[in-house]
Amino acid sequence: MSDEPEQLNSAVLRTQRLTRVVEGRTLIDEVSIEVRCGEVVAVTGPSGSGKSSLLRLLNRLDEPTGGTVYLDNRDYREIPPRELRRRLGMLLQRPFLFPGTVARNLAFGPGAHDEELAKETIAELLDSVGLPGYAERDVRRLSGGEAQRVSLARTLANRPEVLLLDEPTSALDEAAQLGVEELICRIIKSQGLTCVIVTHDRDQATRMAGRTVLLEAGRVVSR
Ligand SMILES: Nc1ncnc2c1ncn2[C@@H]1O[C@H](COP(=O)(O)OP(=O)(O)OP(=O)(O)O)[C@@H](O)[C@H]1O
Ligand SMILES: [Mg+2]
Repeated sequence: MSDEPEQLNSAVLRTQRLTRVVEGRTLIDEVSIEVRCGEVVAVTGPSGSGKSSLLRLLNRLDEPTGGTVYLDNRDYREIPPRELRRRLGMLLQRPFLFPGTVARNLAFGPGAHDEELAKETIAELLDSVGLPGYAERDVRRLSGGEAQRVSLARTLANRPEVLLLDEPTSALDEAAQLGVEELICRIIKSQGLTCVIVTHDRDQATRMAGRTVLLEAGRVVSR
């Protein structure tokens, strides 16, 4: 419960009694958390505790029914959703790619369809996720770990300020899990990204995050 004003002011992302009720069921219940600039915060908790629901609220894929989120001290409802989703990049459990080549998937930023990336930028992005020379590969021929790296590159193409990760390695086999985890850690560090990572894996939370928030039944039970 750190409610001192100077701490609130330095928060990049701050939720204020964030709530979502769907058909009488409370999925997220007055969650107030803050994430400072450059901080990596893990959100953990049992299945169904609302981890994904919280992340979806953070970039407004779902609408709060109560409370709100502040991004750099600005109520996020004042920010156009497209801009918001560019600034808060999201990576999900399963790679999000459309049919075609890796380059085509990277060519357009997920939230910026009017801006086509240069070949050099695509090559740099692929280098940064450890997939040099993959531009012309068909995404159907990628392994799970490779596809997740391409998804990460797509998210990074938007130059997000905050990375929202929802179980980013849990759908991968064990070898790929560690590789992708290390890659994410390296990128967070080198780009100084602020990050919220949802994981059911306590060890992963400890490895990746400076702090862990525990959710149960939509409420923060420890932080
Ligand atoms: N659109 C929706 N409408 C109604 N209920 C939903 C909706 N989305 C999720 N829920 C319910 O909200 C609760 C929280 O779900 P959520 O997916 O956020 O949990 P989670 O912590 O991410 O679980 P897991 O670890 O299995 O991914 C669950 O009981 C789920 O059934
Ligand atoms: Mg989930």
